Amino acid sequence: MASDDGVILTNDDAAQCKRYAVEKKYWSDPYISLLTSRSSAKHAPEISRGYYARVTAMRKLLHKFLMLTDRNCQVVNLGAGSDTNYWLLKELDLFPKSFIEMDFKSVTARKVAQIKRHEVLLQTIASEDEDIRLSKSEIHGSDYHLVDADLSILSQVEKKLHESGIDKNLPTLFMAECVLVYIDNLKTKELLKWIADQFPVAMFINYEQVNMADRFGDIMIENLKSRDCFLAGVEHCKSLETQKQRFLDVGWEGADAMEMLQIYKCLPQVDVHRIERLEFMDEKELLEQLLSHYCLAWAWKDPNNLGIAALDVT
Ligand SMILES: C[S@@+](CC[C@H](N)C(=O)[O-])C[C@H]1O[C@@H](n2cnc3c(N)ncnc32)[C@H](O)[C@@H]1O
Repeated sequence: MASDDGVILTNDDAAQCKRYAVEKKYWSDPYISLLTSRSSAKHAPEISRGYYARVTAMRKLLHKFLMLTDRNCQVVNLGAGSDTNYWLLKELDLFPKSFIEMDFKSVTARKVAQIKRHEVLLQTIASEDEDIRLSKSEIHGSDYHLVDADLSILSQVEKKLHESGIDKNLPTLFMAECVLVYIDNLKTKELLKWIADQFPVAMFINYEQVNMADRFGDIMIENLKSRDCFLAGVEHCKSLETQKQRFLDVGWEGADAMEMLQIYKCLPQVDVHRIERLEFMDEKELLEQLLSHYCLAWAWKDPNNLGIAALDVT
């Protein structure tokens, strides 16, 4: 296995867990089944509930940013994997000026192949622009860019954002959903600092592990290690404070963070009650343990007081 292969495979895991939960009706997403195969395994209800909270919370902040900026903004999804937000936002008519997705070449190459196979995916990108440019691992449309880059190599990130026509003067939302934990701390620091230096108005939403300095954390690290997947960035996943501080240390104006357990209790409770009836779960403690080991952290730079600092997930 090459050193990044274990990390790359985490996208299959995430996408298959999402597809499984969508098929069980935790949330609706007609596109995930076009981008990933069905998992043969049966997933425990706490896993699907965890993914429900993750997807709902990420989407909530994403939508709030798009509404606040009146869609006059850009979204950059780092380590996007098989993410489907581009197509979902198009359906909602809640679309930014540009949507850029970045991941390792082998991940983007598979996504390109799937997009080419499914007319509905390709047409959404192509309908805006006759001159869509496709290569084996990249797509450039008028408002969608799928590019390959190693996020730990800043020069690559910079080059690919430039090739995607990024406008540093537009409010820009960077998202990383379970990605930074796989990247060396110093490299992530360099990336977060570069974003803070280069983008005057920006927000970063980061979903990943927290409270990892305990037995649960040790077991997760060991399990992943046995699959050649190393949590090189786990140092920042000690607490909500370490999650926030890494942004504040490199020039972000403000940062906040919440455990997913807290967030789960703040999600629209009518929908939470609906999903809790989908599958019987006898051990509530397992879900609570899982949710207390993940968090959402967000940081902002908002010198003109657009209101980004006031966005939250509740
Ligand atoms: C757990 S998956 C999450 C995928 C997607 N964000 C989601 O939540 O469904 C982690 C993703 O981060 C990507 N990734 C991790 N480290 C990366 C790096 N250094 N450069 C580019 N992509 C990276 C992996 O290839 C994978 O697609």
